[in-house]
This record gives sequence, C-alpha cells and structure tokens, in this order.
Amino acid sequence: MTEAEPLQFIGANAVRWRSRTLTYFSGCDYFRLARDARLAAAAHKALAQHGLNVAASRRTTGNHKIYTQLEAELAKFFGAETALVLPDGYLAPLAAAQALAEEYTQALIDEYARGALVDAARMLGCPVKRFRHRDAADLQKHLARSKRGARTMVLTDGMFSHDGSVAPLGDYLKVLPANGIMLVDDAHGAGVLGATGKGSLEYAGVGRKQIIQCATMSKAFGVYGGVVLTSRGLRAKILAGGRSFIGTTPLPPPLAGAALAALKILRSEPARRKRLLRNTALVRTKLLTAGWEITETPGPIIRLPAMSGREEGELKGRLLAAEIYPPFLKYPGASAQGVFRFVIASEHSPAQLSQLIAVLTAFKVRRG
Ligand SMILES: Cc1ncc(COP(=O)(O)O)c(C=O)c1O
Repeated sequence: MTEAEPLQFIGANAVRWRSRTLTYFSGCDYFRLARDARLAAAAHKALAQHGLNVAASRRTTGNHKIYTQLEAELAKFFGAETALVLPDGYLAPLAAAQALAEEYTQALIDEYARGALVDAARMLGCPVKRFRHRDAADLQKHLARSKRGARTMVLTDGMFSHDGSVAPLGDYLKVLPANGIMLVDDAHGAGVLGATGKGSLEYAGVGRKQIIQCATMSKAFGVYGGVVLTSRGLRAKILAGGRSFIGTTPLPPPLAGAALAALKILRSEPARRKRLLRNTALVRTKLLTAGWEITETPGPIIRLPAMSGREEGELKGRLLAAEIYPPFLKYPGASAQGVFRFVIASEHSPAQLSQLIAVLTAFKVRRG
C-alpha cells in the first residue's frame, strides 16, 4: 500500500493536487464545517482562554469544564442520557468495549465493520464471529446457535462508509435477546442521518435501550474527537475501566470549543441537512437515469461499480479534464479491488454537481 498523496484544501469544495485546483467529492466533512469561520473563531477563543492542552488524563488533573459542557450539549443533541468525550472517534468503541470486558460471552460483528469495531471486539475477552453484511437473518442464525445463557454483543457500523448504506438496527433489535447489547459505530451517520441528525438510530426509528452509540466529531461536525452516547451506568464504567479514556490526554480545549460551535450550527441550520439530502438525491437520480448500477442508500456516498483497469484510467482522465479530483479508493473488505466513491456535501454548488453528473453520464454512455 503506497502512501496517499498530500492534498491542500482550498475553500469549501476544492483541493490543490499536483499544482492543480480541483473540485473535491471525497472526505467526510459532509457539511463543510471544517473551514467554517465560526468554528475557527470558537477554537481561537478556547485557545486564548484555556490553552492548547490540559496535559493530563481526565482521571487525574486533566478534567475541565469545557468537556462537561461539551458532553452536556452532545447528550442534548443526540437525545442520550449521557455522553463521554474521547480524544478521537477510533477510541470511542474501544473505551466502551474495555469497560465491558468479560461481561459478554460472544461478540457478533458485521463482516464489513471498520477497524475501530474490529479492535473493540478483540477487547471484549470473548470469541468473535462475523455475520453477513447488514443481514439480520444471518445474525439470527448465529444467535440461534448460541449456547444457553449466552450474552451477546452485536457490533456494527451505523452508516457504512464504503457505500452509504445503513445497518438495519430495528431488525437486529428484534432478534437480539434481552440480555444482549449493540455497539454501533456511528462515525458516519451521526449528524447526517435522521430527521434531526441524531444518526442511524434516529434513521431506523429505534430507541437507546440495548444500544451504545459511538460517534466522531471529525466528520459531519468538521472538528475532531470521539464520543460514547450511553447510559450513566456505562459512562461510570468507562471512567473506571476504559483504558482509552483513562490512559489518554483529552481532546485539546480549542477543539472542544469548536465542537460546541459545530453542534450549535447543526442544530440551528437544519437546511444544511436538507441540502445534503437534496444534492445526494440529485446526483443519484441522474446517475441511475444514465444507467449506472449504483446502490440506493441513505448516505451521501455514491460508489460506482468496479471497473477494469483501462476504464479506471479513462474515467480518472475524464474527471481530471473536468477539474474534478478522481476519488478512487481501496477499502478493506467491501471494495478491496478499488472503486470510485463520490461523497456529496451540502455545500456543493449546482454547477459543481452538474459537472460531476455530466462527466459520469458521458462516460457511461461511451462505456455502455
Ligand atoms: C467507521 C469509522 N469509525 C471510526 C473512525 C475513527 O474516527 P476518528 O477519525 O475520529 O478517529 C472512522 C474514521 O475514519 C470511521 O470511518
């Protein structure tokens, strides 16, 4: 695996690549908040007030009122009993699993679950089995084969980043025994899915009973930092036994300040989410009309079917000719051979979306 080339971000929707400025349809800054002036101002203010770093674990002298304030706002935004902030999103499921180690007798994980959950499952101290991607019937088969008295943790992404599909959480809950629990890595769904952006739980219309939702502030919120949205009981357990919480320095205060600003924007500007949905629907509909076989998923991610090396080269050339950065990615598991995967943002202009549609439509017409 070669190291990816560095990109420089220019404005909301462009990147500088090999001395060229290209329209960007990739990354996870779905609302383009990462370069929003209000977040920068909030970060500057927190930096001036609180410094760059608390330089200690929150278990010792590193706790700070900005973290409790952020956790209260996160719990409010997501409608959770409590929130616990972690230094990044990768550490959130790990902290929950460390706190629950030895409490479950088996872990069942979606075969396409991403790295954070794979590592979290290993920390549970129990056998881990994979069930078929987004397949509640297969999950049920695994559960039916479980030993008497089994206690199961199901681990799944909320929204899958390879194609924007969503885990059928409602169906999983129907088959999950009463003593089981679900650990949902909602890194991509949080802020994006559901009527108010609460994520994949809101999208699926399920409550929080038997679900631990983990999220990151590095994607829809445009900032950085992880969060576990859960009950007071599990929060207390993480404080006591979650090594990735106990043994780390918390999120730098300027990032906590920026995260507070991002939450305020996403709460007060629901039009962003509507625009994101509208932009995604426009591109998806036009590509389907052009004959592209793409999956209709709720997320703002459009993955083209795999193609030959020759076609891949030709499409890259066409995108570059249209001043679009070619987002050709290799994903472990789901798209290991490499695919074009376009991410739509709420702030893409109609002209940028039309340009993308035009290139992909023309390519499809030629390809047949
Ligand atoms: C599914 C998933 N979970 C967790 C993470 C980690 O989040 P963070 O970048 O905040 O560590 C990512 C980030 O790429 C992700 O895609």
